[in-house]
Amino acid sequence: MSALAELEARALGEIRGATDLAELKRVEQAFLGKKGELTQQLKQLSSLPKEERPAFGKAVNDCKVSLTKALEARERELKAEELSARLSSEGFDPTEPGSPVPYGTLHPITQITEELVDVFQGLGFSWLDGPEVEFEYYNFDALGIPGDHPARESHDTFWLRDGNVLRTHTSPVQIRAMERFGAPLSVIVPGRCFRNETVDASHEHTFYQMEGLMVGRDISVPHLIYTMKTCLREILRRDIEVRLRPGYFPFVEPGFELDVNCPFCEGEGCKVCKQSGWIEMLPCGMVHPDVLRSGGLDPEEWTGFAFGLGLQRLVMVRYGINDIRDFTGGDLRFLKQFNRI
Ligand code: PHE
Repeated sequence: MSALAELEARALGEIRGATDLAELKRVEQAFLGKKGELTQQLKQLSSLPKEERPAFGKAVNDCKVSLTKALEARERELKAEELSARLSSEGFDPTEPGSPVPYGTLHPITQITEELVDVFQGLGFSWLDGPEVEFEYYNFDALGIPGDHPARESHDTFWLRDGNVLRTHTSPVQIRAMERFGAPLSVIVPGRCFRNETVDASHEHTFYQMEGLMVGRDISVPHLIYTMKTCLREILRRDIEVRLRPGYFPFVEPGFELDVNCPFCEGEGCKVCKQSGWIEMLPCGMVHPDVLRSGGLDPEEWTGFAFGLGLQRLVMVRYGINDIRDFTGGDLRFLKQFNRI
C-alpha cells in the first residue's frame, strides 16, 4: 500500500469514528489543515522527478476530494444526531400534530355581500363602488330630495364641515352609474351607509345596503319582481313568495315595499311577522323620470327599476337574529357562529 493510500484509509477511519463536530474539526485539521498530513504530502511534489509529478499530484488531489466528501457526509450525520438529541432532551416530538392556531372568520355582512354579488353577477349585473363621503347633490338633490323636502328628515344625516355628507344610502351611486356608463345598465352597489340615529335593537348609525339598478328599454315591474324573487330565493335558501305594497321614495315612481312570506312561521302568523304572515324585506320601485334625467338619460327612451336592500336586515331574517347591534358589537361568540371557512 502506498503511503498515500495508507494515509487516506487512516483519515477515512478517523472521520467515520469522530463522535462530535469538534472532533471532526480536529481530524480535518490533522489531514487537510495548513500543517495537515495531506498538505505535507503535496509539499513533497517539488522533490520528485519531473515525470512522476503529474501522477502524484493527481493522486493527492483525488485523496483530498475523497476526504472532503467524507467530512461533509459525517458532518451532516453528526448535525442530525445532535439535533435529534437536543429535541428529545427538550421533550419535543416533531411528529406530534400541531395545536390549532385560532383564525378569524368572515363577517356575516361580508359573507352575504359575496353571496349577493355572486347571484347578481349571474344575472348579468356589474358590481360598483361609490364614495362613502358624498356630495349633497348626489345623496339628495339628484334623487329628487331637495333641501326643503320632507323626505330629508327621515335621513338623519351626518354633515361634514365642508358641506359634504356621509352618504345616508347607496342610491347616490344610481346617478353616478348612469352618468358614467349610460344605458342600458345593470349594477349592484353594496356598501356602508351612515345615519345619525339613536342606536337600538333595530337601528344603527353605520349600516350596509346594497343598491340595485337596472335601466333598459321596456324594463317594467315584472322584471323587478322576477329579479328580487330570484335573489331572495338564493339568499334565504327556500322557495319564497313576495308581495308589493305601495311605498314612498322620491326617486321611484311607483315605489314599493317588497315583503316576503315569513320564514319563521311559513306564513302562518307569528311574533316576528306580527301575525301577518309577511315580513318587510326591501324598498324598491321604478326609477323616477327625473332621476333618469339627472343621470343624463331620456325617460322617453329608457325605463328602469331600483331597489335598496338592507344587508343587516337580510342576515337577521336569514338567521333569526334579533339585535342589529350584534353586527358591530365585536363579540367573538356572535361572530364565530358564522364560521364558513
Ligand atoms: N335608498 C332608499 C333608503 O335607503 C332605499 C331605496 C332604494 C328605495 C332604491 C327605493 C329604491 O331609504
